[in-house]
Amino acid sequence: MATAVRASAAVVVLTVVMMVSSVLPGAEGHLQLGAYNKTCPQAEEIVLKEMSAILAKSPDLAGPVLRLFSVDCFVGGCEGSILLNSTPNNTAEKDSPLNKGVRGYEVVDAIKAKLDEACPGVVSCADTLALAARDSIRLSKGPFIPLLTGREDGNRSVAADVAANTPAPGASISDLIAQFAKFNLTAKDLAVLSGAHTIGKARCSTISPRLYGGQNGSSSESDPTLDGNYTTVLRGQCKPGDESNKLVDLDPETPTTFDTDYYKLVAGNRGLLSTDAALLLDPATKAYVSTQANATSDDEFFADFAASFLAMSKIGALTHHKGEIRNVCSKVNPSSPPHNSNNAAARTYYLNGGLLLNLALAAPLLLGFLFEL
Ligand code: HEM
Repeated sequence: MATAVRASAAVVVLTVVMMVSSVLPGAEGHLQLGAYNKTCPQAEEIVLKEMSAILAKSPDLAGPVLRLFSVDCFVGGCEGSILLNSTPNNTAEKDSPLNKGVRGYEVVDAIKAKLDEACPGVVSCADTLALAARDSIRLSKGPFIPLLTGREDGNRSVAADVAANTPAPGASISDLIAQFAKFNLTAKDLAVLSGAHTIGKARCSTISPRLYGGQNGSSSESDPTLDGNYTTVLRGQCKPGDESNKLVDLDPETPTTFDTDYYKLVAGNRGLLSTDAALLLDPATKAYVSTQANATSDDEFFADFAASFLAMSKIGALTHHKGEIRNVCSKVNPSSPPHNSNNAAARTYYLNGGLLLNLALAAPLLLGFLFEL
């Protein structure tokens, strides 16, 4: 009898500890290396194989996929919300005017389909995107980044969230630094991650204000911080008032190679975006640009990029059943909580679910314990 009571008491104490720990804020799960090692051991290999095949056909797609991941992370965390489509009741992040030029969604869908063929319903869309972005860098001759996985998919994607978390076109260097600081990213991270602009393209409509005036609604002159000869070259590619989606390389000499050339361009006043040029206006970011512009190898940039990318890749990640594994990356699962609930609400929902489950499991034990007494 006494042994039974002690055993029941121990189980009750354990259960209570589990219940409490599941609702403490610090009890959030963590990403880990090889989260799919047991459930889908071939997951990372599949992503690399598919990404290699996609880039062999269209090398230009590395940039869009890398950007897609950063845009996902900065709005609501790296939880795949950028991939969700708008619904009749909700305009999603991807339809925000600020995300008009974001592309590469079809790449994620294609890779997720291959993953689901091998391991149905195991790998999240958020991780599919994260791994595809990681591989975009490696396949563009950049560093291999040992990415942590285990992200789950969120269910909130609201266009109105984008502006508060995305630097406005023509943002100042202090805005950019402040924007990054919101995510515990430093001025150095800003200078390092901007180095992603060593691959990919921008639309003429994005750079038009620098070429023909109207930057920040100001003068009708071109931007004096952009090299004059380069302005002439770019004017040949983008006509005045060009609002089309015509694209221009961010790094024209090596547009599909991940290297330090971006910093040489920025240091020489040939950074394509005004936010690239802005890196010269803060002592810390300027120093980083100048170090990398004069670097004799890519090694330091690669190591820095891997560290900053890993920091970015952890923003707002949902793990341990706080999100879901979407069946289709553009739609929440039918069983998902209402799509316009926010991450915090989703977390509460899942945590309450966990708490209720634990209570249900603990109830018979508690009753047994009381009867024993
Ligand atoms: C300071 C923060 C950033 C700003 C203001 C910024 C802004 C932009 C803009 C305006 C474009 C061109 C979009 C267009 O014309 O459609 C672009 C493209 C791009 N961005 Fe960034 N970006 C930032 C950070 C990042 C980060 C953190 C990454 C990845 C780690 C990234 C990767 C890219 C890539 C690869 C492209 C080319 C996309 C393509 O080819 O479609 N950017 N960015």
